[in-house]
This record gives sequence, C-alpha cells and structure tokens, in this order.
Amino acid sequence: MDTITKFKIRSSDVSYLSKEEAHFISEHSDIFIPVDDSKLCENCEYLYYDLDDKKESRFKFHSIENGDLFFDFKQQLEYHRKKNYSLSKEPLAKALGLTVKRDRIVWDVTCGTAKDALLIYSFGAKVVAFERHPIIYFLLLDAKERFSVNIDFIYGDSSQIDLSLLTRPDTIYYDPMYPEKKKSALPRKEMQIFKEIVGPDTDSENYLEFARKIATDRVVVKRSLHAPQIKTDINAVYEGKTTRYDMYKIF
Ligand SMILES: C[S@@+](CC[C@H](N)C(=O)[O-])C[C@H]1O[C@@H](n2cnc3c(N)ncnc32)[C@H](O)[C@@H]1O
Repeated sequence: MDTITKFKIRSSDVSYLSKEEAHFISEHSDIFIPVDDSKLCENCEYLYYDLDDKKESRFKFHSIENGDLFFDFKQQLEYHRKKNYSLSKEPLAKALGLTVKRDRIVWDVTCGTAKDALLIYSFGAKVVAFERHPIIYFLLLDAKERFSVNIDFIYGDSSQIDLSLLTRPDTIYYDPMYPEKKKSALPRKEMQIFKEIVGPDTDSENYLEFARKIATDRVVVKRSLHAPQIKTDINAVYEGKTTRYDMYKIF
C-alpha cells in the first residue's frame, strides 16, 4: 500500500461512529471523505452503516463487484468456543509455542480479517494485532465496538511502529497476502472483496528478517501446504489440512 487511496463514507452515517472510530476517521481525513447519498451508487465503493437489522447494525464496506465486507467477532469466537480445542492437536497452537506456555504474547503482524487473531486469542494467548490498511483497520475497530475482545488492534505498518512503547512478543505470527500466480477456483466472496481491498504484500523476505529481530522466542509464517518457504533455515514445520506453519526459532 504505497499510494494513498481515498475512501468514501456516507455522510449521513457519520453520527453512528463511535468515539474511537470518529477519532480514527478525523485523524485520517486525507483518506476518508464523507459524501452525500446522492454521490453514492451501486457502482461505487464506500463505507456505510447498515441499519437493516437493529441487533446487527454495523459499518460495512460496499465493494463494486463483490458486495459488502464486515467482520463479526461474536460469531467467530462462538465458533471457536464450541470447538473446545485441544492445543496439543492444533498445528497453529503448537507452531506458536502455546503448548509450552498458553498465555504467551503473540503479535499477529498481518491481522486482516482477524480470523487468525481470534483463533489465537481463543487458544489463550495475549494477542496484539497490527493492520496497515485503513478500511480493514476501520472494520476491525467497528467489529470490536460491537463485541469487545481483549485484543489490542494497532493501526499502521508493523515494521514501522515505535516498538519501544510495547512489550516485545514471545512469538510473531506472519501471514502476508501472496501474489496470485494463476486464478484457481474462485475463493469465497468475503475473500474476494478482501483481496480486492488490500492487494498483495510483496515484502515478505525483508519482513521475516525484521520479525526475527523483534520476537524473543519464535516467528511463525503461514503458508499454503505446497508453497515454497520464505527462507530455508526453518526449525520446524506444522502441517494442517490445507495450511502449513513454518517456525523460525530465535536462539
Ligand atoms: C493475508 S492477510 C492476513 C489474513 C489474516 N491472517 C486473517 O486471519 O484474516 C494480510 C493482511 O495483513 C496486512 N499487512 C500486510 N503487511 C502488513 C504490515 N507490515 N503491517 C501491518 N499489516 C500488514 C494486509 O493489509 C492484510 O490485511
């Protein structure tokens, strides 16, 4: 995300912003532009407050091709609670070192939809999650507004943030968006909108080196099962059905 893109927000919905959301929008007034209803159409992208169902009212991002994007933390966490995970059987929990110490500090440095962050949180870790895309970060703030979770969401590029103010993490979890080589089966709609908004991350090799200087115990990289490793000096690999977690230990 090198260039500043501007995003519309429906001006009639600004009154629904929480204090924290309003602060974020006003601090980034170069990115978020309030516009009248007359300037919105099916054929454009914008943030709006969906009042359809009073119980589930929330901000959504309307995309041109793929409909709406929003995050629902309650639904995600209820799903995880029902699963009643046994950590010693979960490849991600094992890769992160949570079977050794359940409540270790994990930084999810590529938060995205927060699905992984919420899974890691449900395992019992103390999670700090970073997101650099303004729309995605705004939707995370809104999801937290609707369902409170004890995760710190931090806006910005996690490799540029003033780390002196934070306790160093035991584990860094890194899940960049890899450029697509060829169009495979179409991913779910939510994933399509998400990909449309954030685009590929192209700095993974440098990022891994940076993360290895920050984490005190390990860095874990999520990859699809047969994708190449970012760096070959891996200490352990934990495989799931479709995903692999490459673990780089800090000595
Ligand atoms: C593949 S997605 C992560 C998906 C995530 N694990 C989930 O559960 O949805 C990558 C996300 O990380 C963000 N990102 C990539 N590099 C980042 C960085 N250096 N700092 C903060 N966010 C970053 C992107 O904007 C994108 O939202």
